Amino acid sequence: MGKDGRDIASLVCARLKSGGRVTVLTGAGISAESGLATFRDMGGLWEQYRVEELASPEGFARNPALVYDFYNLRRAQLNSIEPNSGHLALATLERQVGDGFSLITQNVDDLHERAGSRQPLHMHGELRKARCQACASVLNWPDDLDAKSQCSACGSHALRPHIVWFGEMPFHMEERIPASLTAEVFLSIGTSGHVYPAAGFVAEARQQGALTIEVNLEPSANSEAFDAALYGPAGEILPPLVDAIMAGLSE
Ligand code: OAD
Ligand code: ZN
Repeated sequence: MGKDGRDIASLVCARLKSGGRVTVLTGAGISAESGLATFRDMGGLWEQYRVEELASPEGFARNPALVYDFYNLRRAQLNSIEPNSGHLALATLERQVGDGFSLITQNVDDLHERAGSRQPLHMHGELRKARCQACASVLNWPDDLDAKSQCSACGSHALRPHIVWFGEMPFHMEERIPASLTAEVFLSIGTSGHVYPAAGFVAEARQQGALTIEVNLEPSANSEAFDAALYGPAGEILPPLVDAIMAGLSE
């Protein structure tokens, strides 16, 4: 790891040694090296598909079959991919920091869980869950979902993907996310900084005194809100960064 990475690791350690907490925000970039397409990069999902048809309540009302199919394909894709070294490094950091660690993800895949993260806050929902529009139950849903699928709680056929669509309120915004933004270290990984409210978290954390760090392929849209940045693939940057933090903490 270069000097920048070592400097950043020692800044992080200084905060953590005095009892600091870490909050990590991840986006599609952390899953890119596992083989999942991001949204806004070249060849990204929103270049190939129309957002308003697939990721809005209106689109679902107009053509439910198209929306079910889109998410069925993406859910099925999860069976053929694995977490990468970036997800694994974050799970290692979580084990080291313990209760002071929070992970907020915009991703709807389950790669953080499969890498060993205990309770990622899925603010944009989860591909492997379905939600009943009749009784609001959230059900584990590993397989295909369609208009014939039935809610095991109330028997209705009004199931939808448990995904936050455009115009809808992200999850965990009332308590858990605001509480996590008071951490002493805020680390943002693989997100373009275009989608709010997530894109505003860094400014909020910084205002409350956090050291803010970005790991991304390139400067994000809100890069000026970070105190430090490491640019490159998360799967290459995170393992040595976490190793250096662990080494610093044990000194
Ligand atoms: P984007 O596709 O907007 O941005 C992905 C970011 O990851 C870009 O800035 C890339 O440069 C970076 N990136 C790509 N590969 C990387 C790698 N190997 N290592 C590190 N960084 C890498 O994805 P998000 O910011 O997550 O919402 O998008 C936010 C939300 O927009 C998504 O959650 C989704 C979408 O509409 C919903 O579906 C509700
Ligand atoms: Zn139901």
